[in-house]
Amino acid sequence: MKNLTVISCKDHAEIGSVTAKLIAEQIKKNPNLVLGLPTGKTPIPVYQELCKMYDDGNLDCSQVTTFNLDEYLHRGKGDPDSYYTFMHKNLFDHIPFKESYFPNAKLYNIGRSCNNYDVLIEEHGGIDLQILGVGSNGHIAFNEPSNDISDMTHLVALTFQTISDNANKFYNGDINKVPRYAISMGIRQILKAKSIILIANGEEKAKAIYDTLEGAVTPRVPASLLRTHQDVTFIIDEKAASLLD
Ligand code: PGA
Repeated sequence: MKNLTVISCKDHAEIGSVTAKLIAEQIKKNPNLVLGLPTGKTPIPVYQELCKMYDDGNLDCSQVTTFNLDEYLHRGKGDPDSYYTFMHKNLFDHIPFKESYFPNAKLYNIGRSCNNYDVLIEEHGGIDLQILGVGSNGHIAFNEPSNDISDMTHLVALTFQTISDNANKFYNGDINKVPRYAISMGIRQILKAKSIILIANGEEKAKAIYDTLEGAVTPRVPASLLRTHQDVTFIIDEKAASLLD
């Protein structure tokens, strides 16, 4: 049976506490959880809340394995603007996990790097719980609007919209500083996760959330494909929900 849930939150902070609570519940049920994680502004309060729970002695991630959705091409450990660094700053430096993986975006042979990541995820039994943000153009991970559904981990060229969004969020509006390529999990791979939570806040996400939940199910709006999944929860604030019926 399909289970699509929409949880509305007052604001970004509430998205953080509601989502962190759901993650913590899953970890309690299954201490060996395999958790898929996003970067970006949206998950920051989720990570802050998880850090608080850990500090209060209410969260043990020592047996949890994480896989991040994506990494900028040629970035990784040691690069200040890599997603590796983002995740360590916001979560992994604070809470010990069993293992944390990223696509290896520095390997010369990108095809092999993508395949290695897929194999690694398989070897861990697949992702139990995948957390996702959404782009203002409806992308999930770096799967940009397209006529086709992407498969497994692959190299992507970012769209101008995503480059410009990321410039405004992280590079003081300077699009020249934003990497143009990334390695990203594919949509079919994301859809293999046993359960999925998508989080979104702010009016800049309202159109993407409307298209995702009330528009056609199409790779032109990658997040809309989540409606084909068996167990998906959308956690959105009032502004992101403002165009919904
Ligand atoms: P954001 O990014 O959380 O910074 O808005 C989400 C995304 O682009 O997937």
